[in-house]
Amino acid sequence: TTTADAPSVPRSAAGNPIGFGRMPRKEDARFLRGQGHYVDDVRMPGMLESAILRSPYAHARIRSIDTTAAAALPGVHAVITGQTLAGLNLAWMPTLSADVQAVLATDKVRFQHQEVAYVVADTEYIARDALELIEVDYEPLPAVVDAKRALDPDAPVIRDDVDGRTDNHIFDWEAGDAAETARVFDAAEVVVTQEMLYPRVHPAPMETCGTVAHMDPVTGKLTVYSTNQAPHAHRTIYALVAGIPEHKIRIISPDIGGGFGNKVGIYPGYVLAVVGSIVTGRPVKWMEDRSENLMATSFARDYHMTGSIASTRDGKITGLKVDVLADHGAFNGTAQPTKFPAGFFHIFTGSYDLQAAHCKVSGVYTNKAPGGVAYACSFRITEAVYLVERMVDLLARELDMDPAQLRLKNLLRPEQFPYTSKTGWEYDSGEYPRALKLAMQIAGYDELRKEQAEKRARGELMGIGISFFTEGVGAGPKKHMDILGLGMADGCELRVHPTGTAQLRLSVQSQGQGHETTYAQIVAQELGLPPEDVEVIHGDTDNTPFGLGTYGSRSTPVSGAAAAIVAQRIRTKARIVAAAALEVSADDLEWQITAAGGRWQVKGDPEQGKTIAEIAMLSHGTLELPEGVEGHLDASVVYDPPNLTYPFGAYICVTDVDPGTGQVKVRRFIAVDDCGPRINPMIVEGQVHGGLADGIGMALMQLIAFDADGNCVGGSFMDYLLPTALECPSYELGETVTPSPHHPLGLKGVGESATVGSPPAVVNSVLDAIAPFGVRHADMPLTPANVWMAMQGTPMRT
Ligand code: CDP
Repeated sequence: TTTADAPSVPRSAAGNPIGFGRMPRKEDARFLRGQGHYVDDVRMPGMLESAILRSPYAHARIRSIDTTAAAALPGVHAVITGQTLAGLNLAWMPTLSADVQAVLATDKVRFQHQEVAYVVADTEYIARDALELIEVDYEPLPAVVDAKRALDPDAPVIRDDVDGRTDNHIFDWEAGDAAETARVFDAAEVVVTQEMLYPRVHPAPMETCGTVAHMDPVTGKLTVYSTNQAPHAHRTIYALVAGIPEHKIRIISPDIGGGFGNKVGIYPGYVLAVVGSIVTGRPVKWMEDRSENLMATSFARDYHMTGSIASTRDGKITGLKVDVLADHGAFNGTAQPTKFPAGFFHIFTGSYDLQAAHCKVSGVYTNKAPGGVAYACSFRITEAVYLVERMVDLLARELDMDPAQLRLKNLLRPEQFPYTSKTGWEYDSGEYPRALKLAMQIAGYDELRKEQAEKRARGELMGIGISFFTEGVGAGPKKHMDILGLGMADGCELRVHPTGTAQLRLSVQSQGQGHETTYAQIVAQELGLPPEDVEVIHGDTDNTPFGLGTYGSRSTPVSGAAAAIVAQRIRTKARIVAAAALEVSADDLEWQITAAGGRWQVKGDPEQGKTIAEIAMLSHGTLELPEGVEGHLDASVVYDPPNLTYPFGAYICVTDVDPGTGQVKVRRFIAVDDCGPRINPMIVEGQVHGGLADGIGMALMQLIAFDADGNCVGGSFMDYLLPTALECPSYELGETVTPSPHHPLGLKGVGESATVGSPPAVVNSVLDAIAPFGVRHADMPLTPANVWMAMQGTPMRT
């Protein structure tokens, strides 16, 4: 199912919509020909390469490091250890969560594959040979692998780098009303409680992380090409940490092969390449390999949750509460706005109307890689949606109610919007029952239930799983949100050249979402310029305005609004120029977009008018403009969003489970998404397809696992499985449109909706299939072995 374009959108000579509508990505011209330009494609004159020595232990004291043999290897230019960095005051760097992380270990290693030494050489091969020659004397220490044991009084203290620390506790954080929630639970007719784990998974972008750094010894300018979702924030952090003046730092993020939250933070490898360049006086490249990426460069989730849901006997949900133990690994490197150590997890009441809610999250250190990144979601909303959607399904089971009917009974109603949730979010707009009913209609829900009953009678296992999600995306209002003190507003600049083509400069950074296309379409919509005439420039701090980058589906809600407003400003100015040229009052002009483009024309006399291209030439020419009106058609804005936008959706997943092996087949997936109007429905559908595949992967096959000593046992794509076309059905998509009342074009984000919404639909479906075995819950990933063991009454604990 796909949505059609509004027939009213005029088309340019090239056949593209002058405004919103389907068009192939402009980026395809290079991506489909293999002509993208990624960090690993960067070759600078005299460039050296590098490699990082990593710890074989999860927890060990470093007694000594001998680099003599490595330094003597021909072709090696520098061998850098924690001691070298300590001399430069760079051995530790700040994380995005007000912690510090070792760039290279000095005292101890705290997770397996932690960075211990760094070699710069003529080639990466020589650098890796040199790593073999470095002698490190480790004294192994007991490791803390299980978050539930991290706070035991006898647990080894991981972060003894901090004076006086005696335990592995990071923070306690809560939201909601504990007393009121207790009262609602006391009065409840039905209470269901369940422990569940959202396991440690990895964003696993196609391109791993890397950087090419060049500190020019003559100009003193540092140029950093890096795989990076937030170039401007990185520039500021480099300036603050390294003491390099900010105008002497240029961060360039070229094409990025997927980010998914993996490329938000600053990794030791990035800093090391900069140090390597300073030390050698030459450009230095560092690119991690796949296993380094999977084992050391940011994980996501790892939330141990105990949820309880309260309701009346006839299925009116009254309360929800949850206790979370959050495993943050050895350094607290999670990424989220400062005020929210558990990200946006406290949106966990989801899409339901209830009386009270309370959540408590405690963060702990363990001997695992740091992270807790927002993997394709707005800061922990994935965990929140999983919790509430599993709890609602468990309640349906307890009440013996159909899970769709239970949801329809409890979903927020349209007239309740704007809705303030029990944990303080203000949902902007929503028509939830409409979306769920549409998903049920596309699925043929009643028929599916009949088919399921027939199959059950024959001993076949078929499951129907539903999830309904609300995301909060577009971080965020400066009054509530910052990262390391930087407010989350986005700048945007638009220049319309004399001949009527334009350049739009964005602070956000595309990682494959098609920004070069969709932002040109926003300008097309507002200014009537054909999208092929609007070039989108991003990913270069010297050439774009400041902003906090792309993650948490924030680009459309924040930079999309900035792009709309900057185009509107130019349209307003164009009106004044057109009025001067036509010798009429600006009030006598009306705006029209036709196949010839945007045009200000005289009301009642459409022959008299000027296209935006004509106006561009006039504004750069000799036309006398009214007092106070500057020439040229340029404008810039900084957009501070008044609120998040709240996209939502209803997903239904149909699975068949092999009773003999526990193998799950996802037979159908119906996804109805509402992200307000769609700039480019083709791109939105692509985003949803990708997110659904991601969700199927997490639900059925992905886990970064550790043995009891803290050895990571999932560090390659042989173990950490990515879903392929074989595991994914042909998706059936639907759409409802509920505009955001505060976004200038009504747009809500969508990039991550499907990753957030799909895992609970898959899990609910599989657990529905195996319900005849009396299974209430089993944790992800629902691998054949895990499903089979759950069917035998012994679900595996991950
Ligand atoms: O921040 P990020 O770009 O990852 O996420 P997003 O803002 O949700 O946008 C993902 C892609 O979908 C972008 O190319 C958007 O322009 C496009 N999109 C759209 O066409 N219509 C919407 N209502 C929302 C996003």
